[in-house]
Amino acid sequence: MHHPLHTALCDLLGCEYPIMLAGMDPVSRAELTAAVCNAGGFGVLAATSLTPDQMAAEVKRLRSLTDKPFGIDLLLPARLPDAGSATEFKADIPPAHTGYVRGLYRDFSVPEAASTRGRRALTHSYVREQVEAVVELRPAVFASGLGNSKEVIDLMHSRGIIVASLVGNVKNGVRMAQAGSDIVVAQGHEAGGHTGRIGTLALVPQVADAVAPRPVVAAGGIGDGRGLVASLALGAIGVWCGSAFIPTVEGNAPRWWKQRMLEAADEDTQVTRVYSGKTMRNLRNRLTERWESDGPPALGMPLQGLLMSDFLYSAEQAGRTDLMFSPAGQITGLFKEIKPAAQVVREMVEQATALLERGLARPAAARPPLPRQG
Ligand SMILES: Cc1cc2nc3c(=O)[nH]c(=O)nc-3n(C[C@H](O)[C@H](O)[C@H](O)COP(=O)(O)O)c2cc1C
Repeated sequence: MHHPLHTALCDLLGCEYPIMLAGMDPVSRAELTAAVCNAGGFGVLAATSLTPDQMAAEVKRLRSLTDKPFGIDLLLPARLPDAGSATEFKADIPPAHTGYVRGLYRDFSVPEAASTRGRRALTHSYVREQVEAVVELRPAVFASGLGNSKEVIDLMHSRGIIVASLVGNVKNGVRMAQAGSDIVVAQGHEAGGHTGRIGTLALVPQVADAVAPRPVVAAGGIGDGRGLVASLALGAIGVWCGSAFIPTVEGNAPRWWKQRMLEAADEDTQVTRVYSGKTMRNLRNRLTERWESDGPPALGMPLQGLLMSDFLYSAEQAGRTDLMFSPAGQITGLFKEIKPAAQVVREMVEQATALLERGLARPAAARPPLPRQG
C-alpha cells in the first residue's frame, strides 16, 4: 500500500518521502546528504565551493555512507566573466569599495590577517570544470541555483541525469521548463541563501500552473510537516528544505551558527548583498546591518566575494562570529534543538501524515479561549 505521502517525486527520484535536502554550501556535505538519503528523503550534496578533486573525494565518502541515489548542486550564475584569476579581478575593484572595507577593519576592531586561501575566482571556465566533474560522478540528479543553461541541461540528460533548477519567479520557471529542466524548484523569498522577491505561498501555485505538466517542488520557509502538507496543497510534488537541516548533528556548519539558529526568531534574518553581490538571506548580524545601512552599491559576482574575502578571513581568524557568513531562512525561529537529520525527516513525515489522515479542517487539539481584551 502507498504511504499517504508517496508522490510522483518519490517515483522520479527513487526515495520514500517527497523531502529533498537542499544543496547548501557548505552545510550539505557527505554526512548530511547520506543521513537524509538513509532516512528516506533525497539528499543533495552542495558542491559549489569544491574543486573537481574535492567534489570527487566528497562523493566517494558519500557513496561509502549510503547506497541510495543522491544529487549534486552547483550555483550557475548566468553573468560571470569567462576566465581570469582572483588577483586580476581584484585590480578591477573600485577604490571606494576597498576604502569602505578598510573602514570595516577599523570600526569592528578586526586585526588584518594575511589570507592564505588560494581561492579560485568564480568564472565560466571554472564552473564548466565543475559541471564536467558532476557528469563524471554520475549523480541521479543535478540541481542548480541562480540559473541553468540549455547546454548544461542537455549535457546532463545525455548521461541520464535528472535536472532540477531553482527559480524565484514565474518567468524563470517557464524559462527553465522550456530549457528542459525535469523539476522546477520554486523557491520563495523567505528562503535562506540567495533569494528572490516573491513569497513561497504566492510563488508555488503560480509556477505550478505556468510550467504544468512539468513537476514543481516547493522551497523557502518549509520546516515541518505543516509546511510539507501546505506545499502539496499548493501544487508541488515535494519540498526542498534548507534551513531545517542546518541545526542537525550532521550539518556541516560550525557550532555557533547552529546555536544562533536555535536562538533566532522569525525577524532575525536579513537579505544582504554583502557576501556575494546577489540578494542573500543571512542571520542578521553586525556586518549585514552595517552594509545594508551605509555600504556602497554591491559589486557583481565574483568581485563582491573577492572584495570581502580577506576581511571575512580576518574576522574568522579573530573568532568574530558576529560578522560571519551564515545564511538561514525566516523559518529559523521554529528550530529549538539540534537533532539528527533522520529525526528531522521522521518528524516531518509523522506530522504531515497525521495532518492528512486527520483532515485539515479539524483543529489539532482543543485550544483554550483567547483572553478577553480590555
Ligand atoms: C546555508 C545555505 C546555503 C545555501 N547554499 C546554496 C547553494 O550552494 N546552492 C543552491 O542552489 N542553493 C543554496 N541555498 C538555498 C537552498 O538550496 C534552498 O533553496 C533554501 O535553503 C530553501 O529555503 P529554507 O532555507 O527556508 O528551507 C542555500 C541556503 C542556505 C540556508
